[in-house]
Amino acid sequence: MVTLLENPLRVGLRQERMPDPQILVIFGASGDLTQRKLVPAIYQMKRDRRMPPEITVVGVARRPWSHDYFREQMRQGIEEFGEGIGPEDFWKDFAQGLYYFPGDIDNPESYEKLKVFLAEIDEKRRTRGNRVFYLSVSPNFFPEAIRQLGAAGMLSDPSKQRLVIEKPFGRDLSSAKALNRVVQNVCTEQQVYRIDHYLGKETVQNLMVFRFANAIFEPLWNRHYVDHVQITVAETVGVEDRAGYYESAGALRDMLQNHLMQIFCLTAMEPPNSLDADSIRTEKLKVLQASRLADVNNLEFSAVRGQYSAGWMKGKPVPGYREEPGVDPNSGTPTYVAMKFMVDNWRWQGVPFYLRTGKRLPKKISEIAIQFREVPLLIFQSAAQQASPNVLTMRVYPNEGISLRFEGKRPGPDLRTRTVDMDFSYGSSFGVTSSDAYDRLLVDCMLGDQTLFTRADEVEEAWRLVTPALTAWETPTDPSLVPQYEAGTWEPAEAEQLINRDGRRWRRV
Ligand code: BG6
Repeated sequence: MVTLLENPLRVGLRQERMPDPQILVIFGASGDLTQRKLVPAIYQMKRDRRMPPEITVVGVARRPWSHDYFREQMRQGIEEFGEGIGPEDFWKDFAQGLYYFPGDIDNPESYEKLKVFLAEIDEKRRTRGNRVFYLSVSPNFFPEAIRQLGAAGMLSDPSKQRLVIEKPFGRDLSSAKALNRVVQNVCTEQQVYRIDHYLGKETVQNLMVFRFANAIFEPLWNRHYVDHVQITVAETVGVEDRAGYYESAGALRDMLQNHLMQIFCLTAMEPPNSLDADSIRTEKLKVLQASRLADVNNLEFSAVRGQYSAGWMKGKPVPGYREEPGVDPNSGTPTYVAMKFMVDNWRWQGVPFYLRTGKRLPKKISEIAIQFREVPLLIFQSAAQQASPNVLTMRVYPNEGISLRFEGKRPGPDLRTRTVDMDFSYGSSFGVTSSDAYDRLLVDCMLGDQTLFTRADEVEEAWRLVTPALTAWETPTDPSLVPQYEAGTWEPAEAEQLINRDGRRWRRV
């Protein structure tokens, strides 16, 4: 059986090399991401020998935690969200490389002290001055943290110091540009890793392999055969305990401008000249540059927001968004957004791309569905009252894989058709479920591979695309104008209309 690792495209996307010894310095280390994702990923990779023995994590945050308390928190994270601690000796060895440094993001003294502390660790752990600074703080602190790191001289060596910035990168086009300027003042683009964990997902990366390592799909991948594309990222969770962040972000900034837009780019882009990071990122950029919201003069024809109201999830009542702890009872923040984009180039002219994402929807599901055109003449009209067009679905979650829907003949003497699926599933074909996205992104960053990270110009173009909706929605309006959908149901009626108006329907998955 051919494995993904044997595939040259795959090898190009991620080299199987061991990063140099380094210190991962996480700002905002008392937050969920560190405990749930980052440290469990580092731990598991060290167990799998994909991290060097010297790997060291320094958590930075305001709370006055001790090293031991931090270690205890991380241990709980690995037990609860990772793959478990395994042998106790292994944990003890790993814990030796976990440190906590209490510091203030806006206090220059904290950075000076941190610099000295990191130099001491270099001695102790032989980490040779290699550092990844990971900003997992609230986005309003990004500029300050970057400026201070620069002022303290902690980003002055491009060969050893890297900067990872979580999303959302900016709040809109002008703030993204301003943030890019702050970044460019203190380091080179080669040091910057704008992280979008969707790019680390196996199925999202497989999109390129699927498209460019197979001869049979690419000829169909254009306006002559494709009717439209639907990209869906649906979640069942609500705002959880993140109201502080989410109230000022909402579904557009939290999900669509980054995760869905990246999937959109990989689906629509031209074959890159090579697999180096810049060739791929340039092709993604071209998609964004050629794209626009379908109808900016009638915004509701191409952009719809929604907010969940009280409803039922798995048989239990759940509160509406405005009743969630920490949320303004008059909040206009969208928890759902659907958009229709057109790509004005030779490949895609006239083919709509519908993107939608929301919280408190009936299922957790992420997928890309390419719906092909109907056949020109249905000679089986009487046999197939409802012949469905072919759909190619790339499942990002759950049951990662790809399926192709087509019509087949029902067994029996009559000529009757039925829709059937041809299915590929990662789990059954490769005998493994895909690993968490953060592990490969962390390794790639430590190896200096920027392929799966977004470039400055890409982020700005993605903001440009959604600007008309942001502007319209954020001019103070009556929050009662934000369409509501009941928790546990699919989109608000307005989002149904967005697609139904074109004679199409959202997939019910
Ligand atoms: C994050 C968002 O980037 O992605 C969250 O901030 C969201 O709001 C999460 O829940 C979804 O990621 P995944 O990998 O579970 O689909």
